[in-house]
Amino acid sequence: MPAPLKVALLGCGVVGTEVAHRLVTHADELAARVGAPLEIVGIAVRDAASPREGVTGTSLEPLLTTDASALVRGADVVVEVMGGIEPARTLILQAIEAGASVVTANKALLASDGPTLYKAADAAGVDLYFEAAVAGAIPIVRPVRESLAGDQVQRVLGIVNGTTNYVLDRMATDGLELEQAVKEAQALGYAEADPTADVEGYDAAAKAAILASLAFHTRVSLDDVAREGITGVTAADVAWAQRTGHAIKLLAIAERNVRDDVAGIQVRVHPALVPLEHPLAGVRGAFNAVFVEAEAAGELMFYGRGAGGAPTSSAVLGDLVSVARHRVLGGRGPVESSYADLPVLPAEAACTRFQVRLDVDDRPGVLAQVAHVLAEHDVSIEAVRQSADAGAATGVARLLITTHTARESALAATVAALTDLDVVRDVVSVLRVEGA
Ligand code: NDP
Ligand code: HSE
Repeated sequence: MPAPLKVALLGCGVVGTEVAHRLVTHADELAARVGAPLEIVGIAVRDAASPREGVTGTSLEPLLTTDASALVRGADVVVEVMGGIEPARTLILQAIEAGASVVTANKALLASDGPTLYKAADAAGVDLYFEAAVAGAIPIVRPVRESLAGDQVQRVLGIVNGTTNYVLDRMATDGLELEQAVKEAQALGYAEADPTADVEGYDAAAKAAILASLAFHTRVSLDDVAREGITGVTAADVAWAQRTGHAIKLLAIAERNVRDDVAGIQVRVHPALVPLEHPLAGVRGAFNAVFVEAEAAGELMFYGRGAGGAPTSSAVLGDLVSVARHRVLGGRGPVESSYADLPVLPAEAACTRFQVRLDVDDRPGVLAQVAHVLAEHDVSIEAVRQSADAGAATGVARLLITTHTARESALAATVAALTDLDVVRDVVSVLRVEGA
């Protein structure tokens, strides 16, 4: 057996602790798969003295250090699971410059400054792997980057944030308030250090940017992703969704589109109504699923645990075995490409169906006025329903309008015009419908 490969672990939190444990527990099997033992040479943390469940009092405790820079310099492979932009970015660049291979789960960093890291890894001829950065345990980075490299991906539609899926699921099934469900997701280790990244859609947007970059061979950054989180979703929205045969999901969508004869891609993250018969509607709790539509392959779905220490450690360790094997055998694995360089089209050009809920005066001619506004903006109505429980007594009717496919910009103008209409008391909610 060759000499051990030195592994530096940056971070010993939810993910890092699981990675460290599995490296120790499965050391013999991992060594056999790699062709060399994997030796943890240190674990960087912010506070080495604080008690850590599963670490304090074990063989891992003496490995804790606060000097991440020194740790990185002596390593063959650096595993970055500390999160955040800095010092993670600098440490990864130091590792690459020193000739180490890198495994990271840091989607925020990759989505904001991935190209700098990819370029550095190319220049140094080392691996930079990041399967855990998208959808936790689910193998999706490698399938999109490698297995589908001979196909044309048309669309990627995914539930890629475990926290928000857990929250929406708890709101739908147990009537929980958003804040309470977020607290549960934090306790279960699904949420980011700052859960705003989850509920406001930044985490899903980062993953959408990474997936879109791989699927469309184009550099897509966080700033290119149109983003809306779930804080505007109310218990009433969730209840209405169920009544109309839908589930509300936070979706990440990346697709090819054409605008003004320019072919490009659109990348967006927002809550959407998904028909209950669509496979994504059945994705419960913190599970993730990514639905890929490709020209030759057709529809593919990848499903599994999208968050949590143990599931994420599976993806991290899979990458670690791959990059370590490359070091033993020589060479490096496939890398992402950006040759297509497609323009990222503005979000207003996206086309989708919408469900609009309105409170209107309950008197003759109102429906005609509302329909006229939609027609004026070239938004075609698929169905209108007046809810039975809306206020005959108060003179208010609640309308539920489902549109055919319309442009975001046309719908936004329609909603503005409806708001100005005297007979419209309130535009209660506007939700996109996807997967129908
Ligand atoms: P945690 O907050 O649980 O752990 C972070 C670890 O990094 C802690 O041990 C912390 O040290 C250490 N750390 C943070 N900043 C520094 C620093 N400046 N110097 C030294 N050590 C530092 O995060 P997670 O384990 O949940 O997430 C880690 C990464 O994995 C993130 O990029 C996250 O987005 C990603 N990820 C997380 C998933 C999950 O389900 N949790 C799933 C998929 C990806 P200390 O303990 O002393 O505070
Ligand atoms: N906070 C993230 C989530 C962790 O909830 O999906 C996995 O990336």
